[in-house]
Amino acid sequence: MSSPTPPLEGQQREQWGSQLGFLVAAIGSAIGLGNIWRFPGVAYTNGGGAFIVPYVVALLMVGIPVLFLDYSLGHRFRGSAPAVFRRLSRRFEWLGWWQVMVCFIIMTYYAVIVAWALRYMIFSVNTAWGGDAKGFFYDYIGLDTDAVSFSAAPVAGVIIPLAIVWVFGLVVIGLGVTNGVERANKIFLPVLVIMFAALVVRALTLSGAAQGLDALFAPDWSALGDFRVWMAAFGQIFFSLSVAFGIMLTYSSYLGRRADLIGTGLVAGFANSSFEILAGIGVFATLGYMATRQGMAVSELQGISGVSLSFVTFPTVISQMPGGPLFGVLFFASFAMAGLTSFISIIQVVAAGLAEKFDLSPARASLVAGLPSAVLSLVLFGTSSGLYDLDVVDAFINNIGVVGSAIVMCVGVGLVLRRTGVLRRHLNAVSGTSIVGAWWQVLICAVVPALLGFMFVQNVWAYASAGYDPASYTPGFEAVFGWGMLFLCAVAAAILTLIRWRTPVDDFRPLDLDAVEEVS
Ligand code: ALA
Repeated sequence: MSSPTPPLEGQQREQWGSQLGFLVAAIGSAIGLGNIWRFPGVAYTNGGGAFIVPYVVALLMVGIPVLFLDYSLGHRFRGSAPAVFRRLSRRFEWLGWWQVMVCFIIMTYYAVIVAWALRYMIFSVNTAWGGDAKGFFYDYIGLDTDAVSFSAAPVAGVIIPLAIVWVFGLVVIGLGVTNGVERANKIFLPVLVIMFAALVVRALTLSGAAQGLDALFAPDWSALGDFRVWMAAFGQIFFSLSVAFGIMLTYSSYLGRRADLIGTGLVAGFANSSFEILAGIGVFATLGYMATRQGMAVSELQGISGVSLSFVTFPTVISQMPGGPLFGVLFFASFAMAGLTSFISIIQVVAAGLAEKFDLSPARASLVAGLPSAVLSLVLFGTSSGLYDLDVVDAFINNIGVVGSAIVMCVGVGLVLRRTGVLRRHLNAVSGTSIVGAWWQVLICAVVPALLGFMFVQNVWAYASAGYDPASYTPGFEAVFGWGMLFLCAVAAAILTLIRWRTPVDDFRPLDLDAVEEVS
């Protein structure tokens, strides 16, 4: 057993080099595939311009408040998700492990999508897909379009880029918070912003760009009456802001005593949404160009959401536009870079949980967390059924796993343990302000659980009765990749909870708020 020195207020604990390092890492985590791959399609298929209403409501009423909850928990209880929830109450340690398991699953498929993007960056140089972007993509990922059934045979073309993604992720996490995560974000984030801005400017100068923007922003107000549109907005905000699955909680635990949690949360939240809207503008301006060339309306184009948007429709446009290869390289490089900075934040949740429970160094924790996940990522998602597996796992893990975690976190912390008062005081004291008022407690204790609870019940009912996507998947396939995967996560979380801590997790004294407030 390690020496039982109590981890008081950050002693022995790695720390960000500066507040800026934390901010950059938080924004790097938030801006990811959710912004480039998900948002444009989600906004378009859920009311276009009208989607902005549920999106802003979700951001202000749920996203930012839960982000503050994550920050205050991580900073006050200074630990990985399992340590934080255990320090709150032993009964809640499993919630921390549940969040760890959610991240474990997300990183297995996230890595594969980033790997595809890396490969496509190279394919873009000579537009290797030629005149058939769809056939080329399906060939590349070895997709069997005749049968939706599981295959465990890895696809050769995915192995090398996937290995690069994993080696990068594990090395960064192994180097630790300051030397690895902070440094990687400080290099990647500015490059990403510059590349993406260049891409959007180019997209806006294409003929037909305005038609694309019209398609994205033309509001379909009737969509607001559909609960699924609201659910899509909440789901988008959670995934995109990286809240309620341990990431922001873990990141904030590496801050010093005085830290502007509120300012950072607001900047990270708005930076993420701005990037998301920028991505929507860039993608739809490009689609406008494509539609104009083909003499169609944007609404008549096929494949403008999800994986098809990035790996089929975009390559098609890239082939048609002047300077397409450069545009393609920029697009897929931005995609991969945004993905990598989020990917490391997801691994960090798992590595930090294991490091604290089993007393492991960052390098060892990175390997223990990453190697099994890397193998799973290859045999589950780097195969010819990978796209199907990934689609089902992504839907269940986000709409049930993450939303469920958010509900339990708010109800547990707010109503069962009644800690929002002290967390609110903590947020204001360490940030040197008092703008977080009683409204935040009302949101966390009542509004968020009610809104998410409603959504959650609808979703579980829909998935259980009709299935997630019955037109594409058999009930057996969804049972294994959806419900089965959630069940295994729950079992793993329970087992990890029962194992004894190898570090003195309970010897902990939270920050003395009186002392902090006196100095302010
Ligand atoms: N927040 C990350 C993303 O948007 C997970 O992809």
